[in-house]
Amino acid sequence: MKRVLTGIKPTGYAHLGNYFGAIKPAIELSKDENYECFYFIADYHALTTLKTKDEMKEYFYNIACTWLACGLDPNRVIFYRQSDIKEVFEINWILCNVTPKGLMNRAHAYKAIVENNEQNNFDRDANVNMGLYNYPILMASDILSFGADLVPVGLDQKQHIEIARDIAMAFNKKYQEVFNIPDCYIQENNNTLVGLDGRKMSKSYNNTIQLFTDEKELKKKINKIVTDSKLPGEPKDVNCTINKLYKLFVDENRAKDFEQKLKDGLSWGEAKNMLFEVANNYIKPMREKFLYFMNNKNLVDEILKQGAIKAQKYAREYLKNVRKAIGVEN
Ligand code: TRP
Repeated sequence: MKRVLTGIKPTGYAHLGNYFGAIKPAIELSKDENYECFYFIADYHALTTLKTKDEMKEYFYNIACTWLACGLDPNRVIFYRQSDIKEVFEINWILCNVTPKGLMNRAHAYKAIVENNEQNNFDRDANVNMGLYNYPILMASDILSFGADLVPVGLDQKQHIEIARDIAMAFNKKYQEVFNIPDCYIQENNNTLVGLDGRKMSKSYNNTIQLFTDEKELKKKINKIVTDSKLPGEPKDVNCTINKLYKLFVDENRAKDFEQKLKDGLSWGEAKNMLFEVANNYIKPMREKFLYFMNNKNLVDEILKQGAIKAQKYAREYLKNVRKAIGVEN
């Protein structure tokens, strides 16, 4: 049985890109008997981004309730909050001591900030705190503390998994073979989802559609999707954003029907109405569950507490072996 582990940072409201790119495939994987899944909310990784404690609370529950509403079954998946597993942070410190500083200098997120600072003639480390700088080590700790085999992530996170592998190998070489070497798991047909403006759907482009926004807001957002100025009756390009999004919510036959209508000159207004209908029908049952969990946060807390108890058993075992390997425990 393969052990799968992945985390999502609570740095914003879950959007359609998160759902189709990460959450849905992860939940499908958890239904497969061949995998044992650890999914968590990476709240301490969010600290590099969040500005206030209210943001932390807001986004934390948004992401937690999203996972549950989308069908995560806490009996099948070990579902927990990163900050509940203190062992991870002790392992983090130990791993800092086998991580070359140069490896962190090469991390994409840090490098991008440095390059930007240099271009602007700022100090190269302006706006870099140690949380950001050490981010990849904490991520390695998340993964290595549970002996994960596979880590499902988007392409943008690939380097982080490579860093985790390097750190694990450095520890194993210096002391003994304590850590399992994880593999990155990038889903093949995981085409990046397009946002309102046709670019990749991403919080940083401000072009997202929130997964559990209410119906009115969903409709408003869909109406904002950028189209060309083709008139009703004129054939439409099936490579348009509306078609790409429509496909996500329907089976192949309905997708083909819709494409034909676009080719036959469906108006953009009609196309947007049709997209709203299928999206809303798809999301509605999950939205109801989401609201249920949002209104019963104590239930969510309890689920995560139980998940933390289960997760901790694994991390504790790893920590013990690590402490023995470095000579602080017999
Ligand atoms: N850095 C990841 C992201 O931004 C989130 C994350 C934190 C993660 N720890 C992890 C993902 C461990 C996979 C495994 O999306």
